Amino acid sequence: MSQTIVDRGLEGVVVGQTELSNVDGEAGRLTYRGYDIHDLAPHAGFEEICYLMLFGQLPNKYQLADLNVRLTANRMLPQPLIDWMQSMPRDAWPMDVLRTMISGLALFVPYMEEGAHASNPRAAIHLIAKTPSIVAAWDRIRRDLDPIDPLPNLSTAANFLYMRSGEIPIKAAERALDAYLVLLADHSYNASTFAGRVTASTRADIFAAATSAIATLEGDLHGGAPGKVMKMILDIGKPERAEAYVRELLARGERIMGMGHREYKVRDPRAQHLETMARELGEASDPKWYEIARALEDAANKVLHEEKPGKRIYANVEFYTAPTLYSLGIPADEFTCMFACGRMAGWTAHILEQLADNRLIRPQATYTGPPVMPFTPIDQRGRNGKNGNDVSSLLGSA
Ligand code: COA
Repeated sequence: MSQTIVDRGLEGVVVGQTELSNVDGEAGRLTYRGYDIHDLAPHAGFEEICYLMLFGQLPNKYQLADLNVRLTANRMLPQPLIDWMQSMPRDAWPMDVLRTMISGLALFVPYMEEGAHASNPRAAIHLIAKTPSIVAAWDRIRRDLDPIDPLPNLSTAANFLYMRSGEIPIKAAERALDAYLVLLADHSYNASTFAGRVTASTRADIFAAATSAIATLEGDLHGGAPGKVMKMILDIGKPERAEAYVRELLARGERIMGMGHREYKVRDPRAQHLETMARELGEASDPKWYEIARALEDAANKVLHEEKPGKRIYANVEFYTAPTLYSLGIPADEFTCMFACGRMAGWTAHILEQLADNRLIRPQATYTGPPVMPFTPIDQRGRNGKNGNDVSSLLGSA
């Protein structure tokens, strides 16, 4: 009898194809449709990457201008969505709000038969344009400020910073956020993208699939890490404390957020650009956050090398995301939302790629429950299980 191999976490398992991006984890290389992110991050803007993702090539300046007009036209949020956010508890977690609002966007888009919305590049542009507007609007509403309407003729990055603060950002801030969005735009079959593709594979529409993707981003093994990296940086307080902090953390059996990656066995290629941005932004304002992050990475490399030899755990994209976004004035609990702003480009492109050549994604599991047994009618069941009939003891105190 052949033995079933269970691939927990699907590590190394190829489940599909994509033309959108490629991760070479040994070489530490990430490409979008064949272009190295080391070339894209310093030279191409986020809107160019959106075009590349959705339409298969880098745009010329006319094509880019055309896309920019469409992104600008889509940035405004429907007033009922803003009213809805105004009614939410001010201390609601920003990712809860964003996930709910991404799903809510579908309410304001016409649907076809049986409730499905058209899944096409138009809908993708709609989602890409509105995601940062939602994040900026909630950022203000939670501070008891009125949301600000988007301004035309601004890049996605500049407009986001404007919608948060009401001020046109300086070029250095715009460039840093723009490069961040470029670097976060896609990453092959990562967990959130895969979730989006699974949902799309049932022929659910792009709004449903994008909602699955954003829900999957939240956990700290994926997009939830950078807020926790910032917490470490704030807790450490000064570079000299980094090594002791790392040792204490590992002694408690915890993980160092922003370190390690399922695919990369070297330093994440995106970390180098984010580190440069964190350093440059720090030099222009407060270098402290970058300096602590740098000391933390050095300490983590040293201590992980000692305590987990051979594991090849290095800084990932989330590590320098933390001091970069914090230096831009973005609070740590909004970092995952910023990730979603960039990744929406990749998610929507993947969802459309899945729908264009679809096959239902439906894996199998090895059953480990009890064997088939006879059914017992309810009045013949006695005291069931070790906790008897008491549901509250089954639920526990949490
Ligand atoms: N800190 C401490 N130990 C870590 C670690 C980290 N950040 N990342 C991995 N490890 C260790 C694990 O404890 C495990 O050690 P063990 O074999 O002694 O038990 C070993 O490395 C392998 O871990 P595993 O969870 O199987 O690897 P993975 O491929 O599933 O891990 C991550 C990938 C991203 C989930 C993992 O590196 C991690 O949890 N990182 C921190 C969270 C983070 O930064 N998430 C954002 C990812 S972009």
